[in-house]
Amino acid sequence: MNLYKYVSEKINEKLGFDAKLEIPRNREFGDFSTNAAMVMARSAGKNPRELATDILPKIQELDFVESASIAGPGFINLKIRDDFLWRAAHTAASITPAATPLVIDMDYGAYNVAKSLHIGHMRTSIVGDVLYRLGRALGHKMISYNHIGDWGRPMGLVIAWIEKLHPDWPFFGVNFDPRGDYSKYTIDPRELDTYYPKASALAKEDEAFLAHAQQITAELQNGHAGYTALYNIFLPIALASMDRTIKSLNIVPFDNDLGERNAAKYTKDVEKILRDKNLLEPSDGAEVVVVKRDEDKKPMPPVMFYNSRGAVTYDATDIMALYYRKKTDNPDKVIYLTDKRQSLHFEQLFRVAELLKMFPADALEHIGYGTINGADGKPFKTRDGNVAELNDIIEMVGVAARERVAESGKKLDDETIDMIALAALKFNDLSHDLRADYIFDPAQITSFEGRTGPYILYTAVRLNSVLRRAGKFATPDTAKFESDERNLIMELLDFDRTVQSAFDSRATDLVANYTYDLCQLINTFYHNCPILREDIPADTRATRLTLVQIATDVLTKALDLMGLKIPNEM
Ligand code: ARG
Repeated sequence: MNLYKYVSEKINEKLGFDAKLEIPRNREFGDFSTNAAMVMARSAGKNPRELATDILPKIQELDFVESASIAGPGFINLKIRDDFLWRAAHTAASITPAATPLVIDMDYGAYNVAKSLHIGHMRTSIVGDVLYRLGRALGHKMISYNHIGDWGRPMGLVIAWIEKLHPDWPFFGVNFDPRGDYSKYTIDPRELDTYYPKASALAKEDEAFLAHAQQITAELQNGHAGYTALYNIFLPIALASMDRTIKSLNIVPFDNDLGERNAAKYTKDVEKILRDKNLLEPSDGAEVVVVKRDEDKKPMPPVMFYNSRGAVTYDATDIMALYYRKKTDNPDKVIYLTDKRQSLHFEQLFRVAELLKMFPADALEHIGYGTINGADGKPFKTRDGNVAELNDIIEMVGVAARERVAESGKKLDDETIDMIALAALKFNDLSHDLRADYIFDPAQITSFEGRTGPYILYTAVRLNSVLRRAGKFATPDTAKFESDERNLIMELLDFDRTVQSAFDSRATDLVANYTYDLCQLINTFYHNCPILREDIPADTRATRLTLVQIATDVLTKALDLMGLKIPNEM
């Protein structure tokens, strides 16, 4: 239940006026505060305090209001009745479905074949997955796309590199027979990951090599039999290693692993539409779509559709991908999640979609996230100065988590430590403002104290253990609360609202930080309100156990929304 929304709507209904409900920082003076009197006084030309005195009785009449009073220039503070809270608390873990369920295509992950996943793919994976889970929990039809980079320039580079390594392989010859058995030509997955960086470095120095690789990309796209056969050998190897990383991050499997290659199938269809609308223009041997508008203040380059070799570009495949999604899902919204350095690309893409009348501008959304930096404030690098691979990052956090566990003197099995490490990595990522950069520090994020994943997991494990030890208990019909209990209930009743606003504002940090605040209140409650101690009266114990149960339900849901698993012990 969304307590905030409920109270807010009831007050507005009673007053026949739309006022904003505030949650005071200090709850000592009330659970909520409304500025209704002040806003109403302004439009009626009245004194706000007088108007507050007039409407106060109306607010006091509401059945969930325990007391209400006027404060300052005309605020009305109100306190909610405990019996109302107690009943409401039982619905704290339920999420109110969206009033208008939408079909939402989500484009995240979007890894590249033959380029291992690196630190830049971390936020798109973790946050994309959480937005997907949030949307799904709210009843939207979420359709995820792993828009794999499996068709562009890197493919030509990798094939050119393999040709350099194995010039004797049959794929490069003119007499290549596509019906042959090529199963003996295999590539070690570890090796494969090195091809692209090596080829890419060489291409920077060696123009002929670059030109050859570009030629290969164009020919592959046009169905060259040998290159296609070779591509079909390394593609599954690359996809399998991608899948392993996705699994180790506990990400919901993608609904579609349809990337650039799939999109490229619609090249001719889209080309025709562009030509019919006179939107393709020649430019130095290439063909482009002009997306510049008169009012533009910054440079807005045209979108290259075909490059001068006749290959489709990254930009073009995104137009085709939209065309495909429109045709198959007809989504209300398409949300892309990438590094913010791709903002221009998406601005251009959305303009093309508008020109084609494929999607209105507000149906397409790009969320650009910030960079993950090292202690020096520069993009995080490994010790040898390379871009950190995602698998190495996961391993690094695993090592740090092992150290923390050892320091604490706990004896935990490997599976548990892996869960702790994953929680450390993901929670840390989620707790930062998505659009801002942050500093990645494995030692800090694995700490058992502070705003960390391990702290959250520990709280959940502790609640589960209380419930296990308590056994069966009955839920009392009414209850009186101490302040720590009451504070906890108020926070529990803020879960639904948090989920709604986190999704609506695409701000996963709201869920992560809510969870942290909740855990703090749980631990304060746990500390100040003994539960299983012998001198605790039976009804007090039952109330507290019920609270533990509700807190467990909410926390478990929050953790699940963040894609985190709770260990049995910690
Ligand atoms: N594969 C790209 C990269 O790693 C990201 C693709 C994002 N999605 C898209 N539809 N363009 O940078």
